[in-house]
Amino acid sequence: MQKYFKLNNDIKIPSVGFGTWQTPDGETGINAIKVAIENGYKHIDAAAIYANEKSVGTGIKLSGIAREDLFVTSKLWNTERGYETTLKAFEKTLQDLQLDYLDLYLIHWPATAYQFSDWKEINAATWSAMEKLYSEGKIRALGLSIFLPHHLEPLIENAKIKPSVNQIEYHPGFMQNDCVKFCNDNNIQVEGWSPLGRGEVLNNEILKEIALKYNKSVAQLCIRWALQNKVIPLPKSITPNRIKENFDVYDFEISESDRILINQMDNLGGSGLNPDSIDF
Ligand code: A2P
Repeated sequence: MQKYFKLNNDIKIPSVGFGTWQTPDGETGINAIKVAIENGYKHIDAAAIYANEKSVGTGIKLSGIAREDLFVTSKLWNTERGYETTLKAFEKTLQDLQLDYLDLYLIHWPATAYQFSDWKEINAATWSAMEKLYSEGKIRALGLSIFLPHHLEPLIENAKIKPSVNQIEYHPGFMQNDCVKFCNDNNIQVEGWSPLGRGEVLNNEILKEIALKYNKSVAQLCIRWALQNKVIPLPKSITPNRIKENFDVYDFEISESDRILINQMDNLGGSGLNPDSIDF
């Protein structure tokens, strides 16, 4: 299994990322980032709303990794949608992360018809600011998060720069097949958040049995399964041995029949959040 995928603008993206949602701000968070990088992660998935970007930036700095060897993502929070507000929010994120460019910047949640009559215009204005930052070399790739096909379509139609990534919830029992197919058809790389279903899939007996065959943990099975489905998993943990374990997924191959068996599993938990019915 390759350690990098290639995005539609030809840049390389490390195929397992380290998620930082709920990574605590402060010493624990700083240490988690350091441990991740020391154990081989080259891809950090951050966001302004996680309220820990300063710690993420400090962890990156303390790890000593060369900037060009690291792929850093952040996301624009919902309250900052729009042209000028996006430009400002981006600068704050860069400052907090103590970086001078981002590898990937995502709109965190789509503006939707549930909250706004002019949702398409709002998303387009946000995207246009991101395109400006991209053209100035401050961001190497642009993308979205939690966009469903009906949110993606109008945005793609008006975009000068096509999105490279869509980050969605993805784990056994929650594969969002329609959205993944739309992204694949449009050459948009899918990233999967909560690849362990927030830890809720780890006690499933079928997954346990399959993992045992490969002498791997269920967490490693879920991460490897996402990779073999060509989705970039973003597991998160603040526990050093789990951080290490979750990156140790390149030395085994799930058989085709086991991959399909996992693809067919029923919902086992996770968040299941739908952008068309959230209030934030
Ligand atoms: P912790 O951070 O205390 O180690 P997801 O990425 O699907 O949202 O799952 C994150 C949750 O899964 C966290 O609660 C994390 O706990 C837990 N977790 C992460 N990696 C493992 C692992 N290898 N084994 C068991 N639990 C894990």
